[in-house]
Amino acid sequence: MLDMQRIPKHVAIIMDGNGRWAKKHGVLRVAGHNAGMLAMKEIVKRSSTLGIGHLTVYAFSTENWKRSVEEVSGIFKLLVLYVEKELAELHANNVRVRILGDFSKLPKDAREAVDRALVTTENNTGLQFNIALNYGSRDEITRGVQKLASDVAEGIIKADEITEEMISKSLFTGILGIPDPDLIIRTSGEERISNFLLWQMAYSEFVFTDVLWPDFTPEEYEKCIEVFQSRDRRFGGRK
Ligand code: FPP
Repeated sequence: MLDMQRIPKHVAIIMDGNGRWAKKHGVLRVAGHNAGMLAMKEIVKRSSTLGIGHLTVYAFSTENWKRSVEEVSGIFKLLVLYVEKELAELHANNVRVRILGDFSKLPKDAREAVDRALVTTENNTGLQFNIALNYGSRDEITRGVQKLASDVAEGIIKADEITEEMISKSLFTGILGIPDPDLIIRTSGEERISNFLLWQMAYSEFVFTDVLWPDFTPEEYEKCIEVFQSRDRRFGGRK
């Protein structure tokens, strides 16, 4: 049973396994991503119901550009479709959409869909749904370091005055006021981090499940949260 008093404030998910799901069902990879989008939709809804503060999903990494043109454009078309079909309901459910990553590099229609989602939901106060798009943690840290280095060069701060908090605040998450994730879930049996939230995960709990992302139901999600609740988090201290 879930303990509703100990729901994580921030859950981050590496939605892996769409390609293998497609292969297993003898359909195109893009059809796997479509099934993944449908799974994502349900997880967003359940996150709202459970009262989770932040849900962050890894939808497109800085490395995903290496995939075929058809697959990349297919993923962005799904993003446009998701916004077209779901924005009204997200808004009705008081969900605020935010983006991690430099989305200026996305195709125009995807950028416009993202802008629409950001503007429509900007005053919402329920679940904050953070979509990582063209996101890479090393890219994010590099941008933060560049910003802090330029502050030093301009004499705004001294190099030895840089604190962990300043580094946190220089990241996409810090700029948007997103706390560090309590729980990181990766589906499909892979146990890797793949350049996701490297700085922010210092004290996160990890739950890996063999379920392929399109098969990841709200019930599987709750099981992962139960595993999280069974863990003993000490943040480096002692009990
Ligand atoms: C990883 O599976 C999944 C992705 C790279 C894309 C994630 C996209 C969605 C869930 C749907 C679209 C939603 C939005 C918001 C754009 P994989 O293709 O690496 O799977 P594999 O490892 O089995 O090949």
